[in-house]
Amino acid sequence: MLCDSYQRKIEYLRLSVTDLCNLRCRYCMPLEGAVKKEREDILSFEEICRVVSAFARLGVKTVRLTGGEPLLRKDLPRLVAMLREIPGIEELLLTTNGVLLAGMAAELKRAGLTRVNVHLDTLNAEKFSQITRWGRLAEVLAGIKAAREVGFSPIKLNVVLMKGWNDGEIEDLLRFAADENLILRWIELMPIGPGKDLQENFLPSAWVLERLREKYHLSPYGKRLGRGPAEYFKVFELNAVVGFIHAVSQPFCEQCNRVRLSADGRVQDCLAYDESEGLLELLRRPGTEDSDIDGKIARMIQVKRPDHGGFLMPACTATAGMYGIGG
Ligand code: 5AD
Ligand code: SF4
Repeated sequence: MLCDSYQRKIEYLRLSVTDLCNLRCRYCMPLEGAVKKEREDILSFEEICRVVSAFARLGVKTVRLTGGEPLLRKDLPRLVAMLREIPGIEELLLTTNGVLLAGMAAELKRAGLTRVNVHLDTLNAEKFSQITRWGRLAEVLAGIKAAREVGFSPIKLNVVLMKGWNDGEIEDLLRFAADENLILRWIELMPIGPGKDLQENFLPSAWVLERLREKYHLSPYGKRLGRGPAEYFKVFELNAVVGFIHAVSQPFCEQCNRVRLSADGRVQDCLAYDESEGLLELLRRPGTEDSDIDGKIARMIQVKRPDHGGFLMPACTATAGMYGIGG
């Protein structure tokens, strides 16, 4: 079993399959300047599976495919099917912006994908294209519908809370989620990459909770939903569930169970620090044994930091946008 030096069990791998994206959300990716990586600098499907097998041997059970936008990676359903075959991997999840989901949902389901999260910050088409720089809301809504129709359940809707952008949509988003049978999750805007320059838009998730409590009866959900750090509440009047990911105002580092692998094979232990170590060279060196990879990963996990103190620790660097890390 993979434990870090603070006895946290690491069982969740976030796997970024590309750092390309078809949107440019203001808090995540700069409009220009993101450099496209050369093909040979990106892990192949075979290399990804070799690394995931190593993580699985060390105790990882859940893999989430992220990006950039993971659906931009050519042949993604084939990768899903390959990952599905790895002993020990129990759940294969996907976080997508939904733009390409309508055309791919059925194939992803057939390939063995377990669940889908869609990231959508607003139900206002004009605001959506402003936040994402050019995105079309209708495409995302069609993606969500398609995912539901092919049987993905529950589908979670991730919303980054931003003052002046979507703080007026608390009820609309909740009602939409309730009607569409989605689990709505409010994510605090993290000071990562371009998100650093948007701190005047930050609102703590407790603010949403207070607004909701003015109108509805909420009670803690009690059970865990998925493997993440979100805190969930039942909303009685709407028969809905709402979640909060308050990484900034109430960090949950002591229960962190995750590690990240970038598209170019770097292992990153924490979102808040730009520290990572590459696996590509080891993977491509002739004669590398599986045990060499296991050993290197285990050592990488050992240096996982205890916390980020709400991203306020002096060593928190996080200059790279989330699109390169995958959230
Ligand atoms: N703060 C919070 N969430 C972010 N994401 C990207 N950048 C940030 C940020 N600065 C989220 C997106 C998506 C996931 C990949 O990360 O909303 O859900
Ligand atoms: Fe793309 Fe997601 Fe980043 Fe938006 S948040 S730019 S959709 S990777």
